[in-house]
Amino acid sequence: MSEPRHILVAVAWPYATGSLHLGHIAGAYLPPDIFARYHRTAGNKVLMVSGSDVHGTPITVKADEEGLTPQEIVDRYHPRFLDYWNRLGISFDLFTTTGTENHTRVAQEFFLRLLENGYLYRKTTSQFYDEEAKRFLPDRYVEGTCPHCGYIDARGDQCDNCGRTLDPHELIDPRSKLSGTTPVERETEHYYWKLRAFQEPLLEWLKAHQEWRPHVVNFAIGMVKSGLNDRAFTRDLDWGIPIPVDDLGSGKSIYVWWEAVMGYFSAPQEWAQLQGTPEAWKDWWINPEAESYYFVGKDNIPFHAVYWPALLMGHTGLNLPTNVAGNQYVTFGGSKASKSRGVGRSLDWYLDRFEPDALRYAIASILPEHNDTDLSDDEIVRRVNEELVATWGNLVNRVLSMTAKSAGGVVPDPGPLDPQDSALLARIDTALAEAGAQIEAVELRAALRTLMDGAQEVNAYLNQKAPWKTAAIDPERTSTTLYVALSAINGLKTGFAPFLPFTSARVHTLLGQTGALEEDGWHRSGLRAGTPLPAPKPLFTKLELAELE
Ligand code: MF3
Ligand code: ZN
Repeated sequence: MSEPRHILVAVAWPYATGSLHLGHIAGAYLPPDIFARYHRTAGNKVLMVSGSDVHGTPITVKADEEGLTPQEIVDRYHPRFLDYWNRLGISFDLFTTTGTENHTRVAQEFFLRLLENGYLYRKTTSQFYDEEAKRFLPDRYVEGTCPHCGYIDARGDQCDNCGRTLDPHELIDPRSKLSGTTPVERETEHYYWKLRAFQEPLLEWLKAHQEWRPHVVNFAIGMVKSGLNDRAFTRDLDWGIPIPVDDLGSGKSIYVWWEAVMGYFSAPQEWAQLQGTPEAWKDWWINPEAESYYFVGKDNIPFHAVYWPALLMGHTGLNLPTNVAGNQYVTFGGSKASKSRGVGRSLDWYLDRFEPDALRYAIASILPEHNDTDLSDDEIVRRVNEELVATWGNLVNRVLSMTAKSAGGVVPDPGPLDPQDSALLARIDTALAEAGAQIEAVELRAALRTLMDGAQEVNAYLNQKAPWKTAAIDPERTSTTLYVALSAINGLKTGFAPFLPFTSARVHTLLGQTGALEEDGWHRSGLRAGTPLPAPKPLFTKLELAELE
């Protein structure tokens, strides 16, 4: 066996400002879980981390709106996220927050390192100031018209309509979110990040990553080519990580985006401490053989494909991303699902009504890996009933029921296999290998398709062999057919496990297997004739749209 690989699965840190919806799950949370589960089964050393993004103005804006403290907002949403992961089976090794001491230490050390390496400098600039509220206005507190697309509700940091990152000074007709007045300019001193120094190295590095999704790498290259300007590294804001030098006076924090992405570096250190092996994070961050995959929604592509790599280049000595698996958008019945605009129901609504694997299946089958995709309740129900239940659920059910009836509830004796039997098993082995390769290339939707095609072939095989007909006249042939079908299901169960972990674990048990599924490895393991099988139960229930309401 080859040496296990070290795989860092880095997942976008959600702002602790609201509930999540299916768009978030499709855009950022289900894909890394599928990827991580595959790699664990394949025997690799996976470290999957993320956490709540708790600083900056997204949190203070929300706290202001509700008359609460930022910490109260965080304390409401962080546990909610943990509950989602639990219910949906999103298998983080650590889901922490940017509010830990460890994160503060790591972010401050990162700052000092950039300073030492000459990438931070002090600069006095004029910044928007709200004279009525008597406060400097952080980017998100300034709104106005996007200079690129004309969207009138663009925020000072980013336009929700065209996805471009912005500087508040670029906005046309800026207004303060605090008072609605037109902000004025005031002088303030900040640390600036010499981002321009990374223009060439970034371009060269991005050009060498043509294996990334075209929309991600092309967007990033376009952004770098259009010219990178130095960016403010600090903000006039108390709710954040204080800068580790005192030469600007108090009240200066590291800009939330720059410290949030550093979470990919701090969380593995926290994880290592919790494991009692404080140096273990180095296997993922310093070891040059380690691989790192970033899973992010479309909005986050600039931060992960351009800014974070630039920060890492400035730090030196740490691994750059192997791949930034950025997604496109998911729309719901045609409109973009967005926390801020409240389109689409909350995830809780779905989790209260669907089995997690049914939800996972529907989402995995429409992942917006290359194009925007649309999801609706009708579509979820259709996918579950017509694909998942009809092709996979019924297959498992009918083979296990027949085995209980005509083979006495044990794995039957295979006897000699005919060419059709062998061909089916070879086909399943190929499907597993192919799906594995697709997952490695982060083509998760295609991998699911490959596995469903495999399940379809088992159905076709059964229709030809018709064990329900041969049972009365040819028990040996029936035994062979059921053995082969059970074996095929055993292989597919492993393939489906990253997508459908709850039901694959049940299939594993229903096939009389006692060890952990993940220990089997990414291949079809053999079934031993005579193994007793528990009484079969259906894997899924068919959904009725009307009953969901
Ligand atoms: N909190 C940001 C969002 O929800 C994402 C941050 S990803 C990170 O859009 F890496 F920067 F943390
Ligand atoms: Zn715009």
